[in-house]
Amino acid sequence: MQKKFKIMVIQGPNLNMLGVREPNLYGSMKLEDIHAQMKVVADQYGAEIEFFQSNFEGEIVDKIQECLGDSDGIIINPAAYSHTSVAIRDAISAVGLPTIEVHISNVYRREEFRQKSLISAVANGVIVGFGPVGYHLAMIGMLQIFDQIKAVLASQQNAQ
Ligand code: DQA
Repeated sequence: MQKKFKIMVIQGPNLNMLGVREPNLYGSMKLEDIHAQMKVVADQYGAEIEFFQSNFEGEIVDKIQECLGDSDGIIINPAAYSHTSVAIRDAISAVGLPTIEVHISNVYRREEFRQKSLISAVANGVIVGFGPVGYHLAMIGMLQIFDQIKAVLASQQNAQ
């Protein structure tokens, strides 16, 4: 039987307020609506997907650690913690899963303190500035990574 791949989507602080929070920067879509669209893409591919949002750094670290043995890839918007959290960066490094970082706004057009992410160096890819569509782009990127992993697994099986 083919392995079912699982994506963990992790949303950092204040992203529960999407739709209400600064719509000029973050758009008018609510987090649930973004997640519903991601689920449609995951279903079409036959992947599992789980969603988690927290305003607490330690809870995000715990969730990343839980991904080990449970998920095959992480899509994360660490929000404000992108710019400060060594702990979230270390957790991503520790689990070693393919990880895509998303920022809804173009952080490079904003205040200087947002122009450095501690997370980007441990992510496979970063999607910045496309609005809520960035999550859809991250899904495409993650499914592409899964296809590459599947191809490697298939060639290993054929070699046996
Ligand atoms: C954000 C950018 C961060 O600088 C900010 O703190 C956020 C959201 C984004 O998605 O554009 O909360 O990660």
